[in-house]
Amino acid sequence: MSEPLVLGIETSCDETGVGIVRGNTLLVDEVATSVNEHARFGGVVPEVASRAHLEAMIPTIERACSKAGVKLSDVDALAVTSGPGLAGALLVGVASAKALAVGLNKPIYGVNHLAAHVCVDQLEHGHLDQPSIALLVSGGHSSLLLVPDVSKEITPLGQTIDDAAGEAFDKVARVLGLPFPGGPYIDAAAKEGNPSAIDFPRGLTTPKDLERHRFDVSFSGLKTAVARWVELETKKGNQVLVNDVAASFQEAVVDVLLRKAIDACLLNEVGTLVIGGGVAANSRLRAVAKERCDEHKITLRIPRPGLCTDNGAMVAALGSELMRKGRKPSPIEFGTDSSMEVSKVTE
Ligand code: KG4
Ligand code: ZN
Repeated sequence: MSEPLVLGIETSCDETGVGIVRGNTLLVDEVATSVNEHARFGGVVPEVASRAHLEAMIPTIERACSKAGVKLSDVDALAVTSGPGLAGALLVGVASAKALAVGLNKPIYGVNHLAAHVCVDQLEHGHLDQPSIALLVSGGHSSLLLVPDVSKEITPLGQTIDDAAGEAFDKVARVLGLPFPGGPYIDAAAKEGNPSAIDFPRGLTTPKDLERHRFDVSFSGLKTAVARWVELETKKGNQVLVNDVAASFQEAVVDVLLRKAIDACLLNEVGTLVIGGGVAANSRLRAVAKERCDEHKITLRIPRPGLCTDNGAMVAALGSELMRKGRKPSPIEFGTDSSMEVSKVTE
């Protein structure tokens, strides 16, 4: 029998994602984004995002099916992000997926967005090693996770105590006059800059901090340090060298994230590190992760940048994994959970 065909829907933030997989084979990954509608506000406006999802949902599903050459009636199961994320945005995805499940009489899995960010790597690099350590870095989350089994067991080791990594990129980009979302612009500017130009602070890395926050991260001090540096230079009448600031800031973020991720692998004696979430698209994070994992003989897995940012394929990938492991589908009455814990993989 051929592997199951799973359609995944993702609407936790500003991307309407519809992905279709067969087993671990990606057939299509369609994304409609409302990012331009939020740009002038410098952040995602929940109500604008919900309305955009509503408008994009049916055309995106139709495009995905047509590109993959599948009919909705061929689909064996639906998967949808039920949390964490923006409540109204999640509702649009969950209601749409439920309508499809009921209409087609197929099982549905309500799944955790963060687990999906980890699981998506299976579409590129095959089944995850059990256990793996996962570093999840996005606009809303920064977590280090011990993942014995992505279909049922994820244990948080640490997280951000203030800003998420992507949020720090976005806020620093704003200070530097770069567009929203700032991550890709900082990444590009940093390529032309000197990462050692400014010695920005590495949060929660002193021996005393490590006692209580070994696997937690903090970016708010770094963000303030960048803002203060820019303000001072401007006051002195100096030209702010955006590329150098971007490169030095990015270096501090990457250094701290990877120090903690490698430490988590070594302490837990886990030989695989998987990195996911929008910030995993960062070219410097990818390069330094490779160097440090090689040094410690840790297998590094990072999906291609397009699968790191929010998309429907990651949700379909997790749905497919749940089916492979024989997990029970979600009861049709499940709801959305905007602050869903990462330890809860499915509804
Ligand atoms: O996973 P994602 O698409 O959405 C959330 O679940 O939050 O992550 C979006 C975040 C944004 O903060 C964006 O600036 C950041 O990922 N990002 C990057 C890069 N591409 C996206 N950050 C650093 N470097 C990049 N190349
Ligand atoms: Zn995400």
